[in-house]
Amino acid sequence: MALKHPDGPEIRQKDISIDPIFVQEGRTQIPRHEMSEDEMDPDLAYQIIHDELMLDGNARLNLATFVGTWMEPQAQKLASETYDKNMIDKDEYPATAEIEMRCVNILSRLWNSPDNDQATGCSTTGSSEACMLGALALKRRWQHKRKAEGKPTDKPNIVMGIDVQVCWEKFANYWDVEMRLVPMEGNRLHLSAEEAVKLCDENTIGVVAVLGVTFDGSYEPVKEICDALDDLQKRTGLDINVHVDGASGAMVAPFIDKDVVWDFRLPRVASINTSGHKYGLVYPGVGWIIWRDAAALPGDLIFWVNYLGSNMPTFALNFSRPGSQIILQYYNFLRLGIEGYTRVQSSLRDVAMTLAENISGLGPFELITKGDELPVFAFKLKDEIKNYTVFDVSDALRSRGWLVPAYTMPKNREDLAVLRIVVRQGFTHDLADMLIADMKRQLPNLEKQHMPMIDKDSGTSFHH
Ligand SMILES: Cc1ncc(COP(=O)(O)O)c(C=O)c1O
Repeated sequence: MALKHPDGPEIRQKDISIDPIFVQEGRTQIPRHEMSEDEMDPDLAYQIIHDELMLDGNARLNLATFVGTWMEPQAQKLASETYDKNMIDKDEYPATAEIEMRCVNILSRLWNSPDNDQATGCSTTGSSEACMLGALALKRRWQHKRKAEGKPTDKPNIVMGIDVQVCWEKFANYWDVEMRLVPMEGNRLHLSAEEAVKLCDENTIGVVAVLGVTFDGSYEPVKEICDALDDLQKRTGLDINVHVDGASGAMVAPFIDKDVVWDFRLPRVASINTSGHKYGLVYPGVGWIIWRDAAALPGDLIFWVNYLGSNMPTFALNFSRPGSQIILQYYNFLRLGIEGYTRVQSSLRDVAMTLAENISGLGPFELITKGDELPVFAFKLKDEIKNYTVFDVSDALRSRGWLVPAYTMPKNREDLAVLRIVVRQGFTHDLADMLIADMKRQLPNLEKQHMPMIDKDSGTSFHH
């Protein structure tokens, strides 16, 4: 079965027709789903693909994704010089391997690891892989401890809020760990310390706290969760570690929320991940995981691979993968430094908070979050508005080119339908003003509607 979007376009024509101006040697069609028998001129192949890609959205108007869509020309130049480097060939590309280790050291210090002299961590393809590595380490440590105590290891569970990103469901499913989810309740839309502790027992491999919830941009209370687990240990002897999923927030909080204590300053935090390609400001394809110290990563998860003449340690789900994204991450670290990242992130937050306030001033909307944690916020329609939905608003904005996803919240708050805006590098006050102008232009049409046109079943779905 090919994995195809259920709403994807129906394929009516078997072949792709070539624009007449590019037709060569009488060839007007190319097969869509099978390889052609013969070769094609490279310019023609380029043109066909280039033209098809025009149908993709305009990345700068995409307020749905967290992932980087813009880098400086110097970074693009470095990317084009390094596409060919395979990250796994550490022996062949020792300079790239050195750059990866520098990034691991930089992040380990940024997140206050007590053991940063021998920073333990690695690059990944994104936060999903990084979360899985973090959770696998938690599971393996729990197994070792239980075996040493002569206790069974067949029923591991992991505790988190229902607001976690889908990668955590994948982890639980792929690695046979029971997922204990704290549902939303009333206005509590993410994990609380009290509810997390209630679900923990001797089979809990760890608690996941999210720094920057995908649904609404809020920070989960990592310190409170750690304090509550300290208390649990005092009462019951259970010693449960925390993994912080900082996919977005671990590259925001260190620069503009210095008073929030969420990282390795908390002794219970065993590992932290981030997506280099989100607020790390790199193009898609890079994530990071750092462990608090070498002891937090069990040695029996590390593979020593004899490859191209050297014996090297690896902990990864992939083998070959591009080295260029790691080089781009280092470019940003070098180029921006603490000062540059602080400037970028605080400007994004400023745009997010101003835009949230302006949206709330339009009348029909009520803010769920204000963009004052991640530069991301969610908002709903006021309860008295019955003749159009957030899905209608999303659709109306799409007709002006803006991608603003609308979705319902998970269990216990399925009644709450919201729109969400992610303010990313490249989204300026100017663009935010244009979005407000388009909202003002579309609202009178929506207000004239007699009834909702798009409901949650036919509307856009949640965008991670
Ligand atoms: C909190 C959180 N964790 C994990 C992920 C997965 O990240 P990636 O796309 O880098 O695999 C996301 C993506 O949006 C996220 O928001």
